[in-house]
This record gives sequence, C-alpha cells and structure tokens, in this order.
Amino acid sequence: MLTGRNILLGISGGIAAYKTPQLVRLLKKSGADVQVLATTSALKFVSELSLATVSNRPVLTGIFTADTEGEYTRHISLGEWADAFVIAPATANTLARLATGLCDDMLSLCFLTLRPDKPVLIAPAMDGHMYNSLSVQRNLSTLAEEGCRILEPESGSLASGQCGLGRMPEPETIFEALAGMLATPEKSALNGKTVVVTAGPTREKIDGVRFLSNYSSGKMGFAIAADAARRGAVVRLVTGPVNLPTPPGVERIDVESAEQMLAAARPLFDDCDLFIGAAAVADYRPEASVEGKIKKKDAEMEIRLVRNPDILAEFATNRKPGQLAVGFALETAGGIDYARKKLTDKQLDLIAFNIYNGHTSGFEVDTNVLTLLGRDGSVTELPLLSKEKAAAKLLDAVETILPR
Ligand code: PMT
Repeated sequence: MLTGRNILLGISGGIAAYKTPQLVRLLKKSGADVQVLATTSALKFVSELSLATVSNRPVLTGIFTADTEGEYTRHISLGEWADAFVIAPATANTLARLATGLCDDMLSLCFLTLRPDKPVLIAPAMDGHMYNSLSVQRNLSTLAEEGCRILEPESGSLASGQCGLGRMPEPETIFEALAGMLATPEKSALNGKTVVVTAGPTREKIDGVRFLSNYSSGKMGFAIAADAARRGAVVRLVTGPVNLPTPPGVERIDVESAEQMLAAARPLFDDCDLFIGAAAVADYRPEASVEGKIKKKDAEMEIRLVRNPDILAEFATNRKPGQLAVGFALETAGGIDYARKKLTDKQLDLIAFNIYNGHTSGFEVDTNVLTLLGRDGSVTELPLLSKEKAAAKLLDAVETILPR
C-alpha cells in the first residue's frame, strides 16, 4: 500500500513508545522506507536496537550525531526525502516544542524541514489531565491550524493505573490513518472534480447579541471536505461558525446565517460537479433582527420566524445535467421515511439519513451512523463509524454515480 513511500517516524518519551516497533513493522511490511527520529526520552521506553533493527536504519536522536562526511545537513535532506511525518507518541513536551518551533533535536528539526505539502500525523498520548490542560490543547490547536492531522487519543487504562482518555491508538489505527492520508488521488473518480460542501450550523440573529442556532460542530462536513480534497477534488467549503481548522487543500468560506450561506454558495453552483449539503441550516430566521440588545420587559415576548431559503434544493432544482446533489437528513430513529421524502422533494441523487441518538451519532460527537439512500432506491446501512470513515463511505458511494 505504501510501496516506495518514505516515512519519518518521530517517537517521543511516553510509555506508548514501546508499541512503536510494531508500527515500524507495519509500515515496512506495506513497502515504506522508515526513518526513526527518537528523542532521548523515547529511548528510555523503547530500545534503540529494536527500532534500528525493524527499520533497518540507524535511529537518529540529537542534532550533532553526524559522524560521516556529508551528513551534517542530514535534517535538510530528510525533510526533502520524506513523503509524510508521523509523530507517535507525541508527548506534551514534544507538542509544545513543535507548536513553538523549537528545534533542538532531530525530531523537531525535521518537523521544520519537512516540505509544506507533505502530511503530518500526530498521535498525542499522555495522562488525561495533562491532555486536557489548557497548554496542551492550545498547542494541539496551533498544530492543527498549521495543517497537522491530530489522531485523538483513546480511553482506557493508563500507565498511572487510572482509567481515562490519553492512550495512544494502536499501531494498526495509526497505520490506517496514515495510509488514508497518502492514498493516491489519481484512482478516485473525484480527482479533478469540483466539489462544494456546506457544513456547520447557521446563526440567525435575534438582536445584536443573541441568535437562534443548533449544535452542529461542522465535523461531518469538514471530514467530507478533507476526504474529497485527499481524493484530488477541488473543494470549496462553505461553513457556518465552527471551531475547526481548515482541512489541507480546501478553500474555506465562513458565513453566519442561512442567507449568507446561500449568497456564498450560489456563485459556486455553476462551476461544481458535486454539491454536498452537510450543514444544519436553520429552517427559520427571526423576521426582523434588532440592532443592539433587546431590553427585558415584564411581559412575555414573541419572535416571529420566517422561512429561510433552501440552499441544497435551490442547487438541485436548477442544476445543469451531470451535476450531482447530495444531502443529509438528521432524524431520530425511525425517520428514514422523512429522509426519503427529502430525497424526492429536493430532487437529490443521494441522501444520508443521519440517525440522531444523542450519544454516538449526530451533532457534535466524533462518530456517526448513516444510511445512504439513492435515487435509484438503493439503501446502504453503515455501522457506527468515525466521521472520517463515514465521510469516506459516503464519497465511495458518490463515486459510483459520478459521471466520468
Ligand atoms: O456538524 P456535526 O456536529 O458533525 O453534525 C453533522 C450533522 C448532523 C449536522 C450532519 O450530518 C447532518 O445531518 N446535516 C443535515 C442536518 C439536517 O437535518 O438537515 P435538514 O433535514 O434540515 O436538511 C436536509 C438537507 O437540506 C441537508 O443536506 C441540509 O444541509 C440542506 N438544507 C436544509 C435547509 C436549508 N435551508 N438549506 C439546506 O441546504
């Protein structure tokens, strides 16, 4: 799968480092060449000899290790050589150093010399309280904003004997995430196509300080945009207010209200091959929005709501031949008939019936349960998946109906 790919594997000093020889083996088995960059702390948890043996290369640690002529600039040649950089486990200390640009060992040096178009996958692992600390979260946000993909730690028993968030995902999970990031876009029917995705909630102003909205986090729409970009599509993402970094290679347009979302999306209609509405667009907005703050009175207050324009329906009903329209329908269990009705009413090619259960599926959470309903009557029930995997399954289905 990764034949001919050059991977830098950065290992920092956490207990999960003991699992990294297995990650090296998986990478090597799939055909990749792996250069391990371990911090000195990492080598207290995993032996240099094990890593050198499985990678078949010397492990690099400090910046002054060159003992051979011509290797004094090895960090620069490694930055050019690598097709991807994986940092697993990434400790709080390493995250802080990467986020601030410190470069006093080979791992952090190569992080700076890596070519900017190459993907970086970071798997933080540490005690749950450390992970949730403000500084770790701030550093993770900085790295994510710079385009690094953060593989969330898992919950389970920790080195401290406590149970909670902080475990590094298994080597197989890290390997799969990396393989997905390096998947060759040329094989995808979406390669070279133009895709417009809507994501997130909309905010409908009541006055200068209040609005009507919903709990959409944007995660589903952003996962679709990221995967479409990885498949080689030109992706334009029109999003309501969310707290997510822009996926690499995606053009992002930020909006607030449904009317603004339509105004931003409309000029993109003509030029797109595929429109995917993953946004939770408010169906109604206050008829009038008041400047400043509405003052509290003793009497009750009524807000009159008027219908918002339907962005997806406008695209679908006016589209040119060959353009595809895909929507979502969030319904509680049993709402598949509502989803089917939206498929027909909005004249879509495909709709993802999104079950809302308040725990693992729907708004905010990292996982989702979708059933894909095709215009041709096809029904594909997907199991509980991460939003990234659900996005990939949706796009796989889209690829089968996309005109070549
Ligand atoms: O953002 P997350 O927290 O990850 O959550 C993801 C999600 C639950 C928001 C997403 O997966 C989802 O289901 N989005 C659609 C929510 C919904 O119920 O939409 P709807 O039934 O109101 O609309 C149906 C379709 O028409 C949707 O594709 C919607 O984007 C589109 N629509 C709706 C109204 C409107 N005025 N304009 C639209 O384009």
